[in-house]
Amino acid sequence: MNSIGAVFRVEIFGESHGGCVGVLIDGCPPGIALSGSDFTADMARRRGGGKGSTPRREEDRPEISSGVFEGRTTGAPVLLTIANSQSDPSAYEDLRYTPRPGHADIAAWLKYGGFNDYRGGGHFSGRLTAGLVAAGVVAKKIIAPAEVKAVIEEAGGSREIERAVEAARKDGDSVGGIVTCVAKGVPAGLGEPFFDSVESAIAHAVFSIPAVKGIEFGAGFSSARMRGSECNDPIKDRGGATEKNDAGGILGGITNGNEVVFRAAFKPTPSVSKPGRTVDLRTGKQVEISVKGRHDACVAIRGAVVVEAVTAVALADLLLRASGSRVKTGG
Ligand SMILES: Cc1cc2nc3c(=O)[nH]c(=O)nc-3n(C[C@H](O)[C@H](O)[C@H](O)COP(=O)(O)O)c2cc1C
Repeated sequence: MNSIGAVFRVEIFGESHGGCVGVLIDGCPPGIALSGSDFTADMARRRGGGKGSTPRREEDRPEISSGVFEGRTTGAPVLLTIANSQSDPSAYEDLRYTPRPGHADIAAWLKYGGFNDYRGGGHFSGRLTAGLVAAGVVAKKIIAPAEVKAVIEEAGGSREIERAVEAARKDGDSVGGIVTCVAKGVPAGLGEPFFDSVESAIAHAVFSIPAVKGIEFGAGFSSARMRGSECNDPIKDRGGATEKNDAGGILGGITNGNEVVFRAAFKPTPSVSKPGRTVDLRTGKQVEISVKGRHDACVAIRGAVVVEAVTAVALADLLLRASGSRVKTGG
């Protein structure tokens, strides 16, 4: 459904062109210092406006509507709302009956019988990730001194990211990308066997990000082509430190004290002006479609900070589960 987590529970809401997007966080430990300025840096990383990204520029300033008193979390649910100040639903009227290939439009129409908010993908829009980034800011404080960092390492199969994105944009097209994420300082022993392994918890969170189509931990798919002697990470000490980290810091679904490392694959942005084919839902006939409006040519660029945020959310939940109570941590 729209919530994730067992103890640190994040519930997401909003639509691209509705009044707002945001998150409700339950299970947030008391005593964490939290103010509006804490969100500025990460929200700016997610916001559009850079090369190859959507020209939709919104302030993206989360309003802390509950759960914080005198600058600290109280232990009550934290409600973070982000206004949609620049929505332009008129741009989507043409798309009401012509679902964009590759977007969630057709799946949402089929699932909700046409009652879904179709404007800009409604609840399935990348805009919803603003709430995830806001939740990530809180989660990062909980997991401190552990730190999560995600960066885009390639776009369109090339490490020359700007060039690849620009070339696609000029063609009225888009490209995908790969984001690498590293979590440092994660204590050994996180992860709950059998079904709530660290891989499962992180993958669950990362696959909630629109356009993510793959994830691999450590050597991932390439480990299938290795020999055991090559793949095994030699152990250096009783703390679990290893000479290399092909396991991505996870063994048996549990953190082993090394860095947690994974990569996430983003597909190309579905909305492209290059003509494609869809169906007119009124007639059932196939028609040509060219999507106009404000769209990223590569969502992986803005996706990196979202990967970072949801990873922090997953780790915060595992950490609080391991500590067994809502004790004061981090911040
Ligand atoms: C930060 C971010 C921004 C996005 N912006 C757009 C966009 O401008 N246009 C678009 O068509 N898709 C965009 N997407 C991707 C779609 O939301 C996504 O492809 C769609 O919801 C279908 O989901 P799926 O690709 O996971 O199947 C964005 C995704 C993210 C993470």
